This record gives sequence, structure tokens and C-alpha cells, in this order.
Amino acid sequence: MTKPIRAKISALGTYVPPRLLTNSDLEKMVDTTNEWIMTRVGIRERHIVDKGVATSDLAVEAAKKALAQRGLAPTDLDAIIVGTVTPDMFFPSTACLVQHKLGAKGVWGFDLSAACSAFIYSLQVGAQFIASGSHKRVLVIGADVMSSIIDYADRATCVIFGDGAGAALLEPAEDDSVGLIDYIHEVDGSGGCFLYMPGGGSLNPSTHQTVDQKMHYVHQDGQQVFKVAVRKQTELCQKLLERNGLKGSDIDAFIPHQANLRIISATADRLGLRPESVIVNIDRYGNTTAGTIPLAMATAIEEGKLKKGSLVMLASVGAGFTIGATLLRWAF
Ligand code: UT7
Repeated sequence: MTKPIRAKISALGTYVPPRLLTNSDLEKMVDTTNEWIMTRVGIRERHIVDKGVATSDLAVEAAKKALAQRGLAPTDLDAIIVGTVTPDMFFPSTACLVQHKLGAKGVWGFDLSAACSAFIYSLQVGAQFIASGSHKRVLVIGADVMSSIIDYADRATCVIFGDGAGAALLEPAEDDSVGLIDYIHEVDGSGGCFLYMPGGGSLNPSTHQTVDQKMHYVHQDGQQVFKVAVRKQTELCQKLLERNGLKGSDIDAFIPHQANLRIISATADRLGLRPESVIVNIDRYGNTTAGTIPLAMATAIEEGKLKKGSLVMLASVGAGFTIGATLLRWAF
């Protein structure tokens, strides 16, 4: 049997809209305080789109940066995968809109729905196309405009989320010294009731009544999600480390989904990670759902924590529940 081709991330681009929503802005909108948000979640500010800006717009900006970094044209791509829970509309897919806006003529693509795990799930789907030899350049995008589904009168959710996008280009790795090494994914639909948007789908199509009942917004039982996030993220990362003969302290950069600073710290402690290896930028961006991991990759690069050959572990827990952990060696 021929050995599968290993995929590597060969370029990264990110984008957040310029407008800031700070804790002090939120103090004027709902009954909250900067102190509560900083101590309970760890967010200082988040970026929010202006009216008329959609997920595909953020995705396109991130995609352009990734392509420019590699000196490639949109038509050099083979496929575009967009992980998002806030598509511009139900259909066409955001991938189609991104393909058109980029001018990536002849390129195919599709959306992947896995909430906060959408970027790492998309990364593995893209990697399978590279592994099979059918594709040479797959653009994997995690993008969300969470502000489009948040109730800015609900203090339990509106302080948490922000808008943002990141795009990673996957290409075949020249050898096994860089690229995606291993992953573990798991979904548990019994957790669907703890984080969901009940309205607008085939179960509760949009009506005046569903809107009056605020069913078109994110609903979350924060404590339930918190407990599962720490437990499952730790469990999957631990399994991934063990089956690759690694310890937490071997990881150069731990890049987790940015949902809550306390979730990240608790996971890092349990895994025995070196504090300097843990990448955190939730203070600046909040929870951008599918955008957090590529945005945190960019932060790791800015902080000089990602170099060619660095051992990286990605981890996420999101609505579904969707859970995932990925091990890779950085390639540039
Ligand atoms: O990315 C997808 C996955 N999502 C997650 O991973 C989120 C996981 N959950 C969390 O991060 C946390 O549970 C939250 C940040 C959502 C909430 O933090 P918490 O420490 O679990 O707070 P809580 O829900 O237990 O609420 C504690 C108190 C309550 O007041 P009482 O009942 O103790 O009087 C809330 O009403 O804090 C109150 N509260 C607030 N107070 C000020 C809730 N939201 C706010 C707020 N400002 N924004």
C-alpha cells in the first residue's frame, strides 16, 4: 500500500473587522462589569462587523492574506472548505460565495458545520484530500460573524462572542519533519441542548413567533458547557499525547479554542503543559467560534512561538458537542 501524503499548513491569513466592542461598551448595554467579564471569562474587547458585512467577507479577507503569503492566485487552489455556524445564508454555501468573491474560477468547495470545532474538523477533511493525492492545495477557512446571532440584551452570551476569520492553506509536506501528525475527533449529540440556536431551521422555521421568542439567538447553559469543555478537551489531548509517546511538556505551542481563559488554564494544568507554550488571545478577540484557532495561530507567530518544526497541539470543544484535538509540526 502506498503511504498517504502528509498535509502541512503552508500559509496562514487572518482577519477581524475593525470595529471594537469593549467591556465598557457592554457595561452600558447590559447589567455587567469589566471586572466580571475579565475574571470569569478573560475578555477585554472583541471585534464586531458593521451592518452589511457577512461571514464570506471576513473569510475572503483572510483567504487573500494566506494566498499572498504563498504568492499564489485564487485559481491555484483545488478546493475551499469553510467551517462556520453563521453562513451568509442557508444556501448557497459560504464556500460558493467565497469562491466567487475571490475569483477562484474552477475551484470547488463546501461548508462544514461543527461550531467551535469547525476549523480543526475542516483541517482534517482537507488533509484527507491531500493524503489521497487528489488535491494539492486546499484552503481551510474558519469564519464566524457571531454578532449576527447574539442577543445584545442577554448578558450571559453577549459578553462572550466576537467576529473573526482565519484561513490556512494545506499542501503536501515534502517529508515527515513537518505537517499534520495525528488527530482525535468525537461528537456527542446528547449535549446539543446546552448550546444551540433553536429558530430558523426545519424544526422551527422563522415566524413572527420564533422571533418574538428570541429563538434566532444563541442559547447556552454556560456551566454545563464549561464542565464538558475542560473534561473532554483534556481527555482527547491526553489520549493524543499518549498514543504518540509524548508528554504535555513536549508541546511547543498549545493552541486551544478560545472560549474562556479558565477553561484554557484548567486544561493546560491537567495536561502538564509549560505555561509559555499556551497560546491565549481571548482578551483581544473573545470567542469567534470557528475563527479562534487560526487567530490564535497568528498570535503564536507574532509571539515567536511557532517556528518550522515546532510541535503544536490544537484542541476544541463546541456546540454539538463537537470535540477535537490535533497534533502537528509547524511548517514555516
Ligand atoms: O465556544 C463554545 C463553547 N462555550 C464555552 O465553552 C462556554 C463555557 N462556559 C463559560 O465559559 C462560562 O460558564 C460562562 C462565561 C458562560 C459563565 O461563567 P460562569 O462562571 O459559569 O457563570 P454562571 O453562569 O454560573 O453565573 C454566575 C453568576 C450568575 O449570577 P447568580 O445567579 O450567581 O446571582 C449569573 O447571573 O454570574 C451572573 N452573570 C453575570 N454577571 C455579570 C452571568 N453573566 C454575567 C455577566 N455579568 N455578563
